[in-house]
Amino acid sequence: MNILLIGSGGREHALAWALAKSSKLTKLFVAPGNAGIAEVAKLVALDVDDHDAVIAFCRTEQIDLVVVGPEAPLVAGLVDDLERAGVKAFGPSKAAAQLEGSKAFTKGVCDEANIPTAGYGRFSNPDDALAYIKAKGAPIVVKADGLAAGKGVVVAMTRPEAEDAVTACFDGSFGDAGAEVVIEEFLEGEEASFFVLSDGINALPLATAQDHKRVHDGDTGPNTGGMGAYSPAPVMTPDLISRVMDEIIQPTIKTLADRGTPFKGVLYAGLMITSAGPKLIEYNTRFGDPECQVLVMRLKSDLLDLLVASVDGTLSDQQAEWHTDSALTVVMASNGYPASYKKGTEIRGLDNAASDMVEVFHAGTKREGNRLLAVGGRVLNVTALGNTVGAAKTRAYEAIEQIDWPEGFCRSDIGWRAIERETEPEA
Ligand code: AMP
Ligand code: GLY
Repeated sequence: MNILLIGSGGREHALAWALAKSSKLTKLFVAPGNAGIAEVAKLVALDVDDHDAVIAFCRTEQIDLVVVGPEAPLVAGLVDDLERAGVKAFGPSKAAAQLEGSKAFTKGVCDEANIPTAGYGRFSNPDDALAYIKAKGAPIVVKADGLAAGKGVVVAMTRPEAEDAVTACFDGSFGDAGAEVVIEEFLEGEEASFFVLSDGINALPLATAQDHKRVHDGDTGPNTGGMGAYSPAPVMTPDLISRVMDEIIQPTIKTLADRGTPFKGVLYAGLMITSAGPKLIEYNTRFGDPECQVLVMRLKSDLLDLLVASVDGTLSDQQAEWHTDSALTVVMASNGYPASYKKGTEIRGLDNAASDMVEVFHAGTKREGNRLLAVGGRVLNVTALGNTVGAAKTRAYEAIEQIDWPEGFCRSDIGWRAIERETEPEA
């Protein structure tokens, strides 16, 4: 098969790496890709917002399947336009991608299907939002309704913080994404991510993961796209997984199918494991970045088979097989991230970092002659396998020691929560 993968992050390098191993792959194109992806695929400079250009490319290169990595093209309806043009595409339609594109939409699905989630109100003007906050008190969570690249959520521990967040949303800090605000009950517990593939009817559980969103050690500092992740998430016991499938995932898939907008693609549930059981925090409609990097390291099955089955509606015939090893990824970012950072700094020593059990997935990198340059905020994902999360962590940080990049940094404690569990004495 000829495949076109859309995206340029660590997630897409991980997907390209996994697709490149498939016996069914003929040619892999990635638009726009990065320096790491260029080692396993042919990069193409396509404007992904120009759907006609993508369709024309697919016709010229006889593309059999387009795989969409990030959320923006999904919410913009790229999959719908490709399908209308007769090109197969992996990922949800614009209507189904509203599960990620609109927090209010997802809350509506939760109401309809009785899915456990935080209590909430939705508001299109500041006065009503402020009155709600006054009535509920803090802690409370304020969210811009639309896509805000992970920055539209404020977990307010005090009422003034919540009020400021409401003001910022309606002031246009998040553009159109903040025209409506969802205000939520604060949920207490441990967070975990759960990934499922769906073909619109069937849901195939993939794996669990946990990520570290804050920039500094100890999960402190501003939120980022993710500074590291590991899989599986020890908090997600088989019993909890089956509850999440029954109480959250299946009712969601059924509701979207009943509405005539079936969900196909990866459903990524952000969960809070509370004392009352698992509750849905949010949905994403694509693989996580950097969670995808740890998932593909553990996946034994052919990724391409799974993606094709999601598109063709044949997931009930598929099973996903996993290595029992844990995987852990550490993100290396440019100094200054998530605020401003310098572009074009040189990275050396990468060849010494990879091994049988370690892959270095690229995000914001570019090759200039023989030099590898950092051109983004998140730049490398050093990803290792190990028989425990602790062993994977040791291996990942040993690999990082080999990388010579003074203008970059990483957290030193990725996996701490899981490792604490691993080292707890048996009760
Ligand atoms: P979201 O973009 O909805 O995933 O929110 C970003 C982060 O805010 C989540 O990963 C949680 O850590 C936190 N968060 C979101 N909603 C809640 C909630 N209702 N209660 C507590 N924390 C939350
Ligand atoms: N790592 C969080 C995300 O991909 O949304």
